Amino acid sequence: MNRAEVAAKNDPSSRLTMAADILAIVVALLQLITLPNQYSDLDIRDGTNILGNVFGGLTINPKAATRPDYAGTYSHTSLRPLASYVVRQKLQQQVKERLHASRADGGTHSRLVVLVGLGGAGKSQLALNYIQTHRKEYDAVFWVDVRQRESLERDYIQIYRLLSGNEQSATSLRVDMDQVTTAVKTWFERREGRWLFVYDNADSLDDESDPYFVDLQRYLPDAPGIEVVITTRSQTATGMTELEAIEVGKLAPVEAVEMFMRCAKLSDAAGAGREETALIVAELDYLALAVTLAGTYVAATPRIRANLAEYLPEYRRRRKVLLGRKAKQQIHAYGESVLSTWETSCATIAKQCPVAVRLLSFFAFLDPADIFLEMFRHMADPSTVGSAYAEEDWERFLSPEGPLEEVFDEALKAFSTYSLIQWKEEQAGYSMHKLVHAWGFDRLEVEEQARYSRGNLAFLKSITQVGQLDPVKKSWITPHISSSVARLREWHWGSRSRSGAAVPGKYESAETMNRRALEGCEKVLGKEHPDTLASVSNLALVLQYQGKYEAAETMNRRALEGCEKVLGKDHPDTLTSMSNLALVLQYQGKYEAAETMNRRALEGCEKVLGKEHSDTLTSVYCLAYLLHQKADFAAAVPLYERACLGYVVKLGPSHPTTVQCVSHMSSLKSLMSSGKSSNE
Ligand SMILES: Nc1ncnc2c1ncn2[C@@H]1O[C@H](COP(=O)(O)OP(=O)(O)OP(=O)(O)O)[C@@H](O)[C@H]1O
Ligand SMILES: [Mg+2]
Repeated sequence: MNRAEVAAKNDPSSRLTMAADILAIVVALLQLITLPNQYSDLDIRDGTNILGNVFGGLTINPKAATRPDYAGTYSHTSLRPLASYVVRQKLQQQVKERLHASRADGGTHSRLVVLVGLGGAGKSQLALNYIQTHRKEYDAVFWVDVRQRESLERDYIQIYRLLSGNEQSATSLRVDMDQVTTAVKTWFERREGRWLFVYDNADSLDDESDPYFVDLQRYLPDAPGIEVVITTRSQTATGMTELEAIEVGKLAPVEAVEMFMRCAKLSDAAGAGREETALIVAELDYLALAVTLAGTYVAATPRIRANLAEYLPEYRRRRKVLLGRKAKQQIHAYGESVLSTWETSCATIAKQCPVAVRLLSFFAFLDPADIFLEMFRHMADPSTVGSAYAEEDWERFLSPEGPLEEVFDEALKAFSTYSLIQWKEEQAGYSMHKLVHAWGFDRLEVEEQARYSRGNLAFLKSITQVGQLDPVKKSWITPHISSSVARLREWHWGSRSRSGAAVPGKYESAETMNRRALEGCEKVLGKEHPDTLASVSNLALVLQYQGKYEAAETMNRRALEGCEKVLGKDHPDTLTSMSNLALVLQYQGKYEAAETMNRRALEGCEKVLGKEHSDTLTSVYCLAYLLHQKADFAAAVPLYERACLGYVVKLGPSHPTTVQCVSHMSSLKSLMSSGKSSNE
């Protein structure tokens, strides 16, 4: 077994939490049962109209008349300031300036600032921190949850009760929401003062047929003393105000490092771990939620806390599992994982524009930094009509209902509306957050990944086939080819780890995909580019799965030679190539040559990575396994023992790799004790 195979085995798959579905059921159930308490103690429809005092007409509730000015804070949310909160100086300054500067202008309307950004970027926390800092400047602060109409109405009824002094009323009658809304909105009109409203989670503002749709504009109070902060994932909200929206995007690197260290409970006395932390937060692309979750995971995992360098390799192996973890509700009150956060937006988009979701998955195979529109100019001539695989007619695959060209803009608009991609004026294209990109891939089943991969490679091939690519275009396309090849690699490991072996019956398809990727790489990147060499290794592996060992050996030798020349003899990729070659030699019974390769790989790993590194342990395990097969039992045993011990310490005794290694060693030992040992 080679390094990659061992790594793949360590990657248990996980299912995404269907938070959106569950929420939809809960909402449907809520609609079936009678109105909750806070709805029932008010009646505004019959003669006893307690709103009278608000409008200055009938005064029925005497309490309300004695408390005309509410000065407090209302919030039903469980969000609370975090111990790990990191001040985002620049953004906080922007919120303050937008609200305060426009206040200085005078004017007769309320002032409204929109905080827009990806789910988990830190919008709500920013609003919360603004309140913490400036609470005393306001007569009252109201936090309204706009996630759905029901939560908004719940909060408006509560606010109405506070404003009207009707907090304790127990009259059990029904509510007319229109009147409550009007009452809350008009309450401020004739009053001097300064009030702050935060409308949190205003994400569903676009589609009236969406069950979570909220017509927010209808609810916003408008009076000179009112300041409004809206947090939203939707770009639609930015049109609700003349004030420029505040984009809550990536953390500044120094903020991200700070956040991680606090969550991981790493002290920074000697600056230890800062460098490694910087690498980790860069890999997480500075997304607040991801950084926090990674930090809390490290805090709870002593093995990694003691050696932070273990985090990134583990993250790369188990990205889907780690990004699918949720924070402990009581600490962060967020309750969503990085992955489930975006799944909700995706479900909404799917209803509006199914092509958008397919396009999002397709983009997950391209380079996320620069998805330039010119690339799609070739839409008119799909490359492989009549191919064995439908998805190779990639245009029709993405848009089976009609020409992609006609829905392309709508699809892009749909997910840029939800901040899942961002338009970059200067590059006339879109960019995608690295984690959204990863999620776009991880959310697909293995079989879907194969289909998208085929479609994507056909698409890239169609571009490279359009005449001679000039050097500029080549440089634009290169990152996309690299990204597509990297995805193909991930698919290999994913499909193997989930099924225990490569997906049966799919080898041919995989071979075609790999040959296509290799062709593209050779043409655009050249024969010795590291991505081309990676592609050669991938192809070797697929050939090996099919039992085409000789062809696999040739490919592995080519990859190894290339890596030695381009990357150097000690580069980790070169060492992996050696292990791959050793394995294919072993399968052919060329044990001597395989042993030489394995020993070279092990020596290299020990030298470059150290004796304890997990790749070194894999090399030890591979050599032990070879010697076992070669019936050189006496030499195999100490290597097995070393590998087992290392795995117990590194991965724990119940990890599948540890268990497998121990089982190989015990079967060898029992074979030896039964006297069948050949060379002792
Ligand atoms: N400034 C910060 N300091 C520390 N942690 C933060 C900060 N900002 C965000 N976080 C972490 O990221 C998580 C997500 O932040 P937040 O709830 O503000 O995201 P959001 O942008 O409002 O997402 P959504 O669109 O899903 O509501 C928080 O629960 C917290 O753990
Ligand atoms: Mg939020």
